[in-house]
Amino acid sequence: MTQPAIDARNADQVAYWNGPGGKHWTDRQQLQDIVLSPVSEVLIDRAAVKAGDTVIDIGCGCGATSFDLLHKVGPTGRVTGIDISEPMLGRARELAPKDAPVEFVLADATVHPFAPASTDMLFSRFGVMFFAQPSDSFANMRKALRPGGRLVFACWRTPRDNPWMMLGLQEAYKHVPKLPEMKPDDPGPFSFANEERVRRILGEAGFSGVGLERVDLSLDIATGRGLEAAIETILAIGPTSRALENQPSDKIEAVTQLIRTALAAHQKGDTVPLGGSIWIVTATNAA
Ligand SMILES: C[S@@+](CC[C@H](N)C(=O)[O-])C[C@H]1O[C@@H](n2cnc3c(N)ncnc32)[C@H](O)[C@@H]1O
Repeated sequence: MTQPAIDARNADQVAYWNGPGGKHWTDRQQLQDIVLSPVSEVLIDRAAVKAGDTVIDIGCGCGATSFDLLHKVGPTGRVTGIDISEPMLGRARELAPKDAPVEFVLADATVHPFAPASTDMLFSRFGVMFFAQPSDSFANMRKALRPGGRLVFACWRTPRDNPWMMLGLQEAYKHVPKLPEMKPDDPGPFSFANEERVRRILGEAGFSGVGLERVDLSLDIATGRGLEAAIETILAIGPTSRALENQPSDKIEAVTQLIRTALAAHQKGDTVPLGGSIWIVTATNAA
């Protein structure tokens, strides 16, 4: 396969999403899509995609939102998912309905030579927070939009507003060293938490009419399968999984016990709902 052009500044992220990150997400694809389904629901609603539209799903991962979009654009539209992760795209291709107008392309959104003014919408569920120089990446992606085309994406608000991701990490830090401190602008899940930063990046990239809508959600990290399933979710993804990478089994067991106790306080039947909070960001390509 021809290797795509990669911006060297994104090399760490390319390695992560083709290594441990890609593995965690591919292994848990089905469950992860259930946990994040409340996000998809509100994001797809705000995107208001019409039959016949063409949409690019940036950082599409295993393809869940590309398939939601496909459903909306119908047989006369087209969805293109792009991502830098070979394993995640591999899963997306496996899941793609045969002969549907959807394709998956291995590409770095920062430098991919998008066909100019070719698409109605750039869309993303959590796939745009990992660029080393986001204003360059968004300026490149904007070239794909026709005049009047729209950008719609979801990103996480602050760690404090997302206990579903932070509860496990707080327990982990009682036994394992802290992750290297991240600066607020470093690529990562919370890099678009700051509203002013998002507005600045999109303005520099040439977008206009930027809007951010706060949406608070309840995410069932147990996917309706009880406390042990909720623990698996916490251990497998996000910052807790990063903090536990390469730790000895006794430490992992001690952290798991603390997480079990902490999650039990939130259990309701077979569900374990925890709070999550996102921005739905919208913007327009005026030119
Ligand atoms: C948190 S995952 C979200 C995946 C998917 N959108 C979902 O919601 O299931 C972030 C995704 O962004 C992709 N990504 C990160 N940097 C990228 C880049 N420069 N170009 C394209 N995709 C990128 C990763 O490979 C990964 O699939």
